[in-house]
Amino acid sequence: MSHAEDHQEGTRRDFLYYATAGAAAVATGAAVWPLVNQMNPSADVQALSSIRVDVSGVAEGTQLTVKYLGKPVFIRRRTADEVEAARTVDLSELPDQSARNPNISGDVSAADENRALDETGEWLVQIGVCTHLGCVPLNEAGDFGGWFCPCHGSHYDTSGRIRRGPAPENLHIPVAEFVDETTIVLG
Ligand code: FES
Repeated sequence: MSHAEDHQEGTRRDFLYYATAGAAAVATGAAVWPLVNQMNPSADVQALSSIRVDVSGVAEGTQLTVKYLGKPVFIRRRTADEVEAARTVDLSELPDQSARNPNISGDVSAADENRALDETGEWLVQIGVCTHLGCVPLNEAGDFGGWFCPCHGSHYDTSGRIRRGPAPENLHIPVAEFVDETTIVLG
């Protein structure tokens, strides 16, 4: 390879490197949920203290994300395999032992049964904000098949429990309930 070709090649490589780094920065930026906004909900958001969500169109193995009180809420209809994976975990392996579920009184264990919205475990509703520094985790990603936060590498399992990485707590669960077969009320 001539010097000129080598130089050209080097320039191209540099360009590719910078282009990729730039794209990653944009993607990370987009994933950061605005903390300021989250901590100071505007008057109209505060007024909307509960919302009804129609989940009739949510297919098994998919997730619907809605915005509630300025934060994303993940409503996932889990597959039987996801539920099984969540329920066969040895609880002593969990970094955060709390269910983080305000729908159950007391500080109950992080067993999947204490986090799912219904008894079968098909429905899991969580606040989609990483408990480390507030990014929005990606679904069906990470080493435990649940959610992955790309900001600093936190892995959550199919029950939304932190398993590896810097996040200190399981994904929080919002106040939620089914009011009929296909409607979830948040708040
Ligand atoms: S904000 Fe999610 S790992 Fe840091």
